Amino acid sequence: VTLTAVNEMTFRAVVSSAVRAPSLLNSQPWRFRRTPDAIDVLVDRGRSLPVTDPTGWAMRIACGAATFNLRVALAMQGYATELRWRPAVGDPDIMARLRLVGHRSPSPMEERLHRAIPRRRSNRTPFFDQPVPTDARAQLIDAARREDAWLVLVTGPGAVGAVAEIAHAANRVLERDPRYRTELAAWTRSDTSARDGVPVTAGGPNAEPHDLLPLRQFGDHPRAPGRDFEPEPLVAVLGSAGDLPTDQLTAGQALQRVLLTATDLGLAVSLLSQPIEVAAAREQLRLALGRFGAPQMVLRIGFGQPGSPTPRRDPDEVIVD
Ligand SMILES: Cc1cc2nc3c(=O)[nH]c(=O)nc-3n(C[C@H](O)[C@H](O)[C@H](O)COP(=O)(O)O)c2cc1C
Repeated sequence: VTLTAVNEMTFRAVVSSAVRAPSLLNSQPWRFRRTPDAIDVLVDRGRSLPVTDPTGWAMRIACGAATFNLRVALAMQGYATELRWRPAVGDPDIMARLRLVGHRSPSPMEERLHRAIPRRRSNRTPFFDQPVPTDARAQLIDAARREDAWLVLVTGPGAVGAVAEIAHAANRVLERDPRYRTELAAWTRSDTSARDGVPVTAGGPNAEPHDLLPLRQFGDHPRAPGRDFEPEPLVAVLGSAGDLPTDQLTAGQALQRVLLTATDLGLAVSLLSQPIEVAAAREQLRLALGRFGAPQMVLRIGFGQPGSPTPRRDPDEVIVD
């Protein structure tokens, strides 16, 4: 079989899918490059968040998530691919390479995941008081496992309370730092023509002292009386075996598979990364979970109103030669 290279039009199409991935503050720290037999995902260091993400952890999660979308989009275009993280020792900016190794039809699961790409959103609004069914829980755990990561569902008021306390402590540490507040404000957009950053319309209601979890706040949204968050959200922690750059890319990819699986199941998710960003909190979280490996993201999962869309830059702005 001769391998047909990805043409310009297909490349733009798969890049449009890739950029729908989540990224911290919607910073979109990625670029894409096409070679005759591969597509590379590069980190865009010009879009780093020096205060919130000094180590580049969030950039690698985002690039891992974009890589997953790219893989699924290439599968839909009939390509079999082989993934390598950080394939070039001499070029540390290449986060992932998807080598085109043949042609094949997408699986029904890939079709479902692909359909979920444009529908997935971070949802910061209160969810319904409706538990996540057992079968859906199993599918979320399986989604993480299939991408070499783990998803722990935190169950029972004691365990959920412990994770929530760690998240609040981390959030307080961050909010005390004026540089953090400045960075957050700089990426919060009320201008509807912005192509990056988090639009205020995607923000949830303002925090109240009795909230179980500290959701990150974008814009000022006074809470309607009684419009509280659900008392028993499904809280989950996604983690990886280690915490090297490739582990973080793996975690990002697994996160995206979990998020697309959730979307396909009709579930809404919010991401909470304050307890990952604060090193001491992350260590406490790891100990609280009592398992090997590194926590990479805290998730709140449930059934909710549809979330608000966020913008993305054009493929032209992220495609490089
Ligand atoms: C590494 C990472 C960390 C994130 N942390 C948070 C967070 O702490 N709070 C939050 O509300 N959203 C968080 N997000 C979600 C982003 O804000 C969101 O993906 C981005 O604004 C794009 O919106 P979308 O997910 O609806 O497409 C995070 C996303 C990533 C990839």
